[in-house]
Formats: sequence, C-alpha cells, structure tokens
Amino acid sequence: MGDVLTLSGLEVRAGAEVLVHSVDLLLAAGEICALVGASGSGKSLTARAMLGLVEIDPGVTRGTLEITVGDRSYQPPMSGDFRARKRAFEGIRGAVVGYLPQDAGRALDPLRTVGRQVGHTARLAGRDDGPLPWLDKAGLQPSVAGRYPHELSGGMAQRVVIAQALARGSRFLLADEPTTGLDPAVRRPLLRELRHLADEGVGILWITHDLRATRGLADRVLVMSEGRVVESTTPDVLDSGEVSSPAARKLVDATRRIAGGRVR
Ligand SMILES: Nc1ncnc2c1ncn2[C@@H]1O[C@H](COP(=O)(O)OP(=O)(O)O)[C@@H](O)[C@H]1O
Ligand SMILES: [Mg+2]
Repeated sequence: MGDVLTLSGLEVRAGAEVLVHSVDLLLAAGEICALVGASGSGKSLTARAMLGLVEIDPGVTRGTLEITVGDRSYQPPMSGDFRARKRAFEGIRGAVVGYLPQDAGRALDPLRTVGRQVGHTARLAGRDDGPLPWLDKAGLQPSVAGRYPHELSGGMAQRVVIAQALARGSRFLLADEPTTGLDPAVRRPLLRELRHLADEGVGILWITHDLRATRGLADRVLVMSEGRVVESTTPDVLDSGEVSSPAARKLVDATRRIAGGRVR
C-alpha cells in the first residue's frame, strides 16, 4: 500500500496545436479514478502518455511522471525521442502500469489458447503457477484456458486482458473505455471486476463517457475538456448536478436527457 502514480504538467502538442494542456493527475493504490469528457478531449492521449506510447510527428510531449511502488520509484522520461522513451518505459509498461484497451480481442494472439497466453505472461513475470489463478482473479472459469480468442465473447476477451495485467503484476491499470461495444448485460459485471481489483490494491484510471456508470464504482471523477482537466469531483456530485465547470454541466445535461432526469 502507499503506491502512487503522479503525473504532473502533461502537455501534448501536434505541431503548433496543444492537444493536452498541463494535466495533473494522481492515482493511488486501491482507488478508481474515472476520467470523463467529450470525445476528442484528450483522455486517451493522457493515458497513452503514461505508457510512453504517444508518438506525434511533428509533435512534443512534456511533463513528469513519477510512480512509487513499495520502496521503488520510477521516473520515466516524458519528452524527447519517441524510441528512447518507448524503451525507457519497457520495464514499467505491463510490469507496473497495465493497459486495458477498448476491443481487447485485438490485443490477443489469435493462434494461441488463452491458457498459453496468460501462462506465458505469468512466466515472463517470474511466476510459475500457470494461468488458472489469474483467470480466476479476473472472474473466468478454468475451462476458458483451453479456448482460442475467436471462441471468446467481447466481455470474456476483456477479462482475459485483465488476467494478463494481473499475471504481470501491474500495480496500476489504465482502462480506456473498456466496456464500449460490449453487451449491456456484461458491462456491469466487468466494471464490478475493476472495483474488485481496486479493492485488492490496484490503482485504476478508468476512462469512460458513461457518467451513470461511475456511481458506486469510481471514487473520484476528473472531467476533461479541450485537453484540460477542468473539474475534479465525485459521482455523487455529478448525480446531484451541482457541478462547477461548463464542460461538466454539458455532460450532466446530456446524460440526464438520455436517462430521463437522473444521472444514474
Ligand atoms: N497522433 C495524433 N496526431 C495528431 N492529433 C492527434 C493524435 N492523436 C490524437 N490526436 C487528437 O488529439 C485530440 C484528443 O484525442 P484523444 O486523446 O484520442 O481524445 P479522447 O480519448 O478524449 O476522445 C483529438 O482532437 C485527436 O484528434
Ligand atoms: Mg479515447
């Protein structure tokens, strides 16, 4: 416990255009911080910058990232040559900070069973207990180990990617719209799985455009608009509608129109 990831002053530019302006973000072990905002507001760029995976040419990224896990501290470079940055992040990406993309099916090898893939990941991380404990932690039955990716539903594929993140030992997980495109019936259980992981001590940044889903799941909500974090709030405040930024107001109003009055 006490693990924390601190991003300060993140700036991402494409040519002269500033896509992300001075974003500060703190993610602590055991919490779910939701990052919400209109499409194009810079949420995915912010997450990918924390994995050393933003390459814009011509472009620049700037800022500092400090990750403390136990008595170790990591401070990977956030600016400079993309390839050097990508390399510097190699020991961090996966091992310390995991990534759960939308459409996880694409992140899996189509020619190897789930068990082989998760087991291999665990072995690389120095764990010899095979895939089953990790599948179990991600809420999957042991029989899933024998399946190929094309035999998985979207929700199961997401859980397999969660199992891989756990097998790697990721202390933080950046989940970028992990339930978009999934059947509503599997969305909620998958999100509950994220809550369960946070309760076990993983710090989760959860990018979503579904304000209603944050209730009962997220501890905090950051609202992004036009590349800036414009409000730091809670699901309850969003539900009450007592928000202070025009961007949050717009999101709340849009959600209420869909939900017929309430955010939930
Ligand atoms: N590689 C890139 N080069 C130029 N512009 C980009 C690049 N990636 C993203 N953008 C732009 O940055 C803005 C923020 O994108 P993104 O972080 O993906 O938004 P969000 O995830 O909030 O929908 C968008 O206007 C997008 O078009
Ligand atoms: Mg995005």
